[in-house]
Amino acid sequence: MSKLRIAVIGCGSIAKHRHIPEYAANPEVELVAFCDIVPERAEFFAKKYNATAYDHYEELLAKEKLDAISVCLPNYLHALVSIKAAKSGVHVLCEKPMATTAEEALAMIQAAEDHHVFLMIGHNQRLMPPHQKAKEILARGYLGRVISFRTAFGHPGPESWSVDGKNSWFFRKNEAAMGAMGDLGVHKADLIRYLLEDEVVEVGAFVEILAKNDTDVDDNAVCIVKTKKGSIGTLAASWSYQKEDNSTVLYCEHGVMKLAEDPFNQVIVQLDDGSVEYYHVGAVATNEKQVTSGVINEFIHSIQTGTKPSISGEEGLRSLNVVLAMIESSKKKTFIAVQE
Ligand SMILES: NC(=O)c1ccc[n+]([C@@H]2O[C@H](COP(=O)([O-])OP(=O)(O)OC[C@H]3O[C@@H](n4cnc5c(N)ncnc54)[C@H](O)[C@@H]3O)[C@@H](O)[C@H]2O)c1
Repeated sequence: MSKLRIAVIGCGSIAKHRHIPEYAANPEVELVAFCDIVPERAEFFAKKYNATAYDHYEELLAKEKLDAISVCLPNYLHALVSIKAAKSGVHVLCEKPMATTAEEALAMIQAAEDHHVFLMIGHNQRLMPPHQKAKEILARGYLGRVISFRTAFGHPGPESWSVDGKNSWFFRKNEAAMGAMGDLGVHKADLIRYLLEDEVVEVGAFVEILAKNDTDVDDNAVCIVKTKKGSIGTLAASWSYQKEDNSTVLYCEHGVMKLAEDPFNQVIVQLDDGSVEYYHVGAVATNEKQVTSGVINEFIHSIQTGTKPSISGEEGLRSLNVVLAMIESSKKKTFIAVQE
């Protein structure tokens, strides 16, 4: 089988740290084009991979014969570019949050369906080793039902992550739509849905600007969550945790499971009978220490086998709807039912 022809649109940090190296490491892939509005960024990778650089995605889509693209752009461009690509018959891997509104997300799903291409969303938390292990342990059933949980994702903020530092689009509402909630909260909303195999049905939240100057997006959120099967829990997202925290604790009928709390044993299960299980499975990625996300390999595998990606547009929409409901809850100062 010939190699899949891939283009990466947006050559900032997520492209540089995860998409581009993971495509380059996949023997089934040929990186043929890169696009960035800052030409040197696309040119850098084009030179490195013997590909073509563009500064406009429409020109790239018109000129290149592609199998798939990665959308690694500011949030407000996700729907626009994903839909254009789907209309050109190209499979799309779009970063999270998949869109800025539910309407945009629905239009992305529809475009992929109409044009018979796959749409996958970069919800890489599902694939992190501790989270994969947790899923496997929950499936074995000995912990019983998850009654309650707490999950948090916080770091000092995108200043040290985004290629544009303090001047990043991450801090501007018209480009980001949401702050820490779109950056980190949506990851944990997605993770809880995935681990519990359940849907969030109702939320209450404080979503605030507490720590950053010169921004009109949220930088801290604390939310409470109720699921369809009746679990309750908390979800926090922050751009002012000086030490990164991406932990989750599941309080189950027959014990407690701690994820990414201990740096060595990334999964710890404490059972009712006093016994403790330790699993050294590998860490979650942090901004300082990147680990392979697995998202790219899964996307390529889906295309090659003609199997719809498990982290589909529909999944991205459900996780987006959770954070949109949290933001609405904070604004209206009331509990909000999550849109189905
Ligand atoms: N899955 C994850 O864990 C994860 C982690 C970080 C970021 N992300 C997501 O990835 C996306 C990109 O974030 P990032 O961290 O790479 O941001 P970044 O600021 O580092 O890079 C964004 C890039 O997009 C380019 N760009 C902006 N407008 C453009 C346009 N019209 N055409 C072409 N290029 C354009 C910028 O010049 C910049 O190089 C965001 O949606 C973000 O939420 C996901």
